[in-house]
Amino acid sequence: MPSDSMKSIQISHRYGSYEVRFESIDSAIERLPSDLRIITDTNVVQHFGPLLEAKAPVVMIDPGEQSKSLKSYGSLLSWLAKTKASRKTMICALGGGVVGDLAGFVAATYMRGVPFYQIPTSLLAQVDSSVGGKVGVDLVEGKNLAGAFYPPSGVSIDVAVLRTLPVNQFVNGMAEVWKYAFIMDAGLTEPLAAEGWGVEHPALGEVVRRCIALKAEVVQGDEFETLGLRAILNFGHTVGHAVEYAVGYGNILHGEAISIGMVVEAKLGEMLGMTRKGVTQEVSQYLANQGLPTTHSILKSERALLSAMYGDKKAAGGNLAFSLLSDIGRCKLVESVPEATVLAAMRES
Ligand SMILES: NC(=O)c1ccc[n+]([C@@H]2O[C@H](COP(=O)([O-])OP(=O)(O)OC[C@H]3O[C@@H](n4cnc5c(N)ncnc54)[C@H](O)[C@@H]3O)[C@@H](O)[C@H]2O)c1
Ligand SMILES: [Zn+2]
Repeated sequence: MPSDSMKSIQISHRYGSYEVRFESIDSAIERLPSDLRIITDTNVVQHFGPLLEAKAPVVMIDPGEQSKSLKSYGSLLSWLAKTKASRKTMICALGGGVVGDLAGFVAATYMRGVPFYQIPTSLLAQVDSSVGGKVGVDLVEGKNLAGAFYPPSGVSIDVAVLRTLPVNQFVNGMAEVWKYAFIMDAGLTEPLAAEGWGVEHPALGEVVRRCIALKAEVVQGDEFETLGLRAILNFGHTVGHAVEYAVGYGNILHGEAISIGMVVEAKLGEMLGMTRKGVTQEVSQYLANQGLPTTHSILKSERALLSAMYGDKKAAGGNLAFSLLSDIGRCKLVESVPEATVLAAMRES
């Protein structure tokens, strides 16, 4: 029998705390209050539909990032009003990160905030987006530009639901799992590199639990991302986001882009003399074995990537902040990395 600490993780925030429970999806849904609205997508509903309809009114969005929009946000608010949801009605997000971010922003703002519950069904949502309280939608002008910090009332995790996830989406989420291993927990590399690692592996539940505990540790120390602590989670993301942007959203999965980003940023650390020599090779090998890309021809478009890294500001002789590894399992935030070294790391990756 798992101990109580194995069954849940408590996460504190400015208003109190919530529990991440490890339980079956059936128990999770059964335990939710009857005054409930469920938001999901048309893929996820195919697998859990009957379970949901017996419980509460369900609304489905189209799968994919394009649904994380002001348009869907508006429709969902109207649906809540039409179905006479009150200030006490709980909103449950059942789906990947898109459903979670969108439903969370709806919950944060409908009647100035109603209770919100997350049942993440993608690996990325389980290890990353469902924990930390960030919710929001994309604008035409950019990703995640409208949002809030709105912690859920609770989160339920059932790794068995990942069995229906397409393989490329599982691998996508694995990029974030490897990130936790690289920045905080070298011990994680053992199960991840084991023979037969995948959705059926018996250690999957424990690995997901460890990733959530690691993210919880970081976000509790820097809930609103103002202290710089949360920035260590950006390992691979400074370059990864630029790759995602330059290749075009929809042409590459987030996990694939950050996999490429992690290799470049490991190299960057080695070039700066702060990462043990050989770490880049190890990082790259782990990711390649996982089926993730480790390089991309877009890395040659140096200027385009640099300006994406600087955001709107023009890339011109400035410095960039990076979360860099000192070794596998340890990292440090480096505030001011010379642009020339970033370019050199991209050239060598
Ligand atoms: N809030 C945060 O802190 C945070 C952190 C990281 C990412 N995100 C956001 O998360 C989003 C990406 O999340 P995602 O990768 O889960 O994408 P997603 O929600 O689009 O899900 C990926 C695909 O898997 C399908 N799917 C989900 N669960 C399934 C299941 N059990 N069986 C079969 N199919 C299933 C979905 O329908 C979708 O087609 C992005 O919008 C990103 O910005 C948010
Ligand atoms: Zn990410």
